[in-house]
Amino acid sequence: DWYINKFIDSAIAEIKNKVGNDKVILGLSGGVDSSVAATLISKAIGKQLICIFVDTGLLRQNEGLQVMETYTKNFDMKIKMVDASAKFYKALKGIEEPETKRKLIGKLFIDVFTEEARKLSGDAKWLAQGTIYPDVIESSKEGHVSKTIKSHHNVGGLPEDLGFELLEPLRDLFKDEVRNVGRELGIPSLMIDRHPFPGPGLGIRVIGEVTKEKCDILRKADAIFINALRENNLYNKVSQAHVVLLPIKTVGVMGDNRTYEFVVGLRAVNTIDFMTATSSHLPWEFLDSVVNKIINEVKGVNRVVYDITSKPPGTIEWE
Ligand code: XMP
Repeated sequence: DWYINKFIDSAIAEIKNKVGNDKVILGLSGGVDSSVAATLISKAIGKQLICIFVDTGLLRQNEGLQVMETYTKNFDMKIKMVDASAKFYKALKGIEEPETKRKLIGKLFIDVFTEEARKLSGDAKWLAQGTIYPDVIESSKEGHVSKTIKSHHNVGGLPEDLGFELLEPLRDLFKDEVRNVGRELGIPSLMIDRHPFPGPGLGIRVIGEVTKEKCDILRKADAIFINALRENNLYNKVSQAHVVLLPIKTVGVMGDNRTYEFVVGLRAVNTIDFMTATSSHLPWEFLDSVVNKIINEVKGVNRVVYDITSKPPGTIEWE
């Protein structure tokens, strides 16, 4: 595509020109925006770019591994993986209220990232971010509906006073243009055509108190649902799908025995703008097979429900 290639060429030239021989730090989340920004910058300045990937313990199954493999192997990027999971689990202990969890996770993320960035800041002058055009507009106006309902956090939302110069090569692009740039740069579809994943991650999909044990259960159930969607060619037919773990146990029967285990909820929606959404009409047989697989394979779960609430009144995430 002519337009996309022209953008890439001029962005690379501009990055080289701006940055010179300096080093650049970037918070890589595995999401589309930060991944495309990182890949573009790495094409321009190679290993002068240092990415920081924070494992919050609230990531999906194999997510950290997948990100590390994709970008270190295919793109030869320098990525510093920081395992902060114990810190996050410790901070979340005993906390049930969704907004409190969101704020805590957002703040802790900034603290961890800042600490790592400072360790590297003797070298680095630039902080790169995957800010895209809608983020620019959004931060300049008030009253975005979902923002007033839930405090959003993502890797792009770092404080401005970290003492770096900002490098934001995607500032003028819309999401679909960012995806096209990513494809053109050779990022695999698995990374580019992903459903949105919230900044607070599994922290808001484990309903109520978050523990490592609960995250582990949720990771298994979620991977079963998502893989089944992919295998049945349904992944790209829904806008977003995920599993939530409820903080209640219910009674069930397995063989001759009574069970008393957690409930998980499956959520899949179709939407254009994520401001309104309807639940996806997934085939009943498909849902049946996912439920069976979860019950059989995920220890600690004995009941699965499917959320058919529209947005509004229900939001897409449960917290
Ligand atoms: P809700 O739950 O408000 O979500 O219907 C709308 C969309 O936003 C995503 N979401 C987030 N994305 N940081 C993000 O980057 C967040 O804190 C956050 N909370 C919700 C949600 O997954 C859905 O795609």
